Amino acid sequence: MRVLITGGGGFLGQKLARRLAADGHLRGGAISELVLIDLATPAAPAPAPFPVTATACDISDAAALAPVFARPFAVIFHLAAVVSGAAEADFDLGLRVNLFGTLNILQAARHGGTCPVVVYASSVAAHGGEEPLTITDGLELNPQTSYGSQKVIGELLLNDMSRRGFLDGRGLRLPTVSIRPGRANAAASSFMSSIFRDTMQGGSANCPVGRDYEIWHSAPRTVIANLIHAATLDGAAFGPNRCLNLPGRTDTVGAMIAAMTLVAGPEPASRITWNHDPVIEAIVMGWRNRVVPNKALALGFRADASFADSVRWFLEDDIEKVR
Ligand SMILES: NC(=O)c1ccc[n+]([C@@H]2O[C@H](COP(=O)([O-])OP(=O)(O)OC[C@H]3O[C@@H](n4cnc5c(N)ncnc54)[C@H](O)[C@@H]3O)[C@@H](O)[C@H]2O)c1
Repeated sequence: MRVLITGGGGFLGQKLARRLAADGHLRGGAISELVLIDLATPAAPAPAPFPVTATACDISDAAALAPVFARPFAVIFHLAAVVSGAAEADFDLGLRVNLFGTLNILQAARHGGTCPVVVYASSVAAHGGEEPLTITDGLELNPQTSYGSQKVIGELLLNDMSRRGFLDGRGLRLPTVSIRPGRANAAASSFMSSIFRDTMQGGSANCPVGRDYEIWHSAPRTVIANLIHAATLDGAAFGPNRCLNLPGRTDTVGAMIAAMTLVAGPEPASRITWNHDPVIEAIVMGWRNRVVPNKALALGFRADASFADSVRWFLEDDIEKVR
């Protein structure tokens, strides 16, 4: 089976590629080839028990996608996106990648003629506005950012193309994935990782919101397991709405810092600064941080038991010694 990851050079794309390389199979069959596309040529996981093709390709350029889709895929993980802060700062860029890029991927998947499984990374940013503070399944989505709106349009396209039998879609609204390794990025949620990652790596980081701010989050390991689970399920199990809220945890910033201190000692927390940032706050205060994901839980998607586990997994999987 041929598998494609868009955004294959990104945080989750790289982790997913490594997990598929370790597994060697998906949906009960051996993977025959893994294709990774991103703006710059992604790193290929090594070792891998199947050939990996890593290619630079802009998903907003439909013509550039044609050679990638010259042979059909059985499973497509569509992860490429412009993240929340960047899509809010540049409306046209967000529209080009998150909306038209997604449309290009879905159209290319549709015309492959194999009705591929498409796992689409949506976001908790789909929620907000007039929705209740606690999110349950089946609510009318009311995103309050351009990024969230673009993700929701992708969800609708995924549902309609699945209904028509063009593809077999599964859309997951990811919680904030923390702790994200590497450098800070343009996501408004970037601080939700940097206050843990950068301080455990010996640096400092600013928290732009108060200790009582609640975060709806999930660990990278758990999100990768849930992406693979989404590809594995029978599409019919999702029902007419192929898109759902993934499980996560609600913790305050203060409780997450306490969990970090429990695992990593008191030093990292002492390197957090607390300078209020009204721009970040305006975006993240519009997100929902309490979700009751009953549909996803019934379908076997997983939640983390504690943020302390996320800290331990970061120390095992991702920490860089910067000094
Ligand atoms: N990480 C999170 O907390 C989180 C939360 C909710 C949803 N998501 C979604 O999950 C997906 C993966 O997130 P991530 O954290 O790995 O993000 P990321 O930014 O690390 O990865 C996204 C990748 O998409 C690539 N990309 C951007 N524009 C592109 C284009 N025009 N053509 C090809 N590739 C392009 C980027 O270069 C990047 O490598 C995204 O769709 C994101 O919106 C992530």
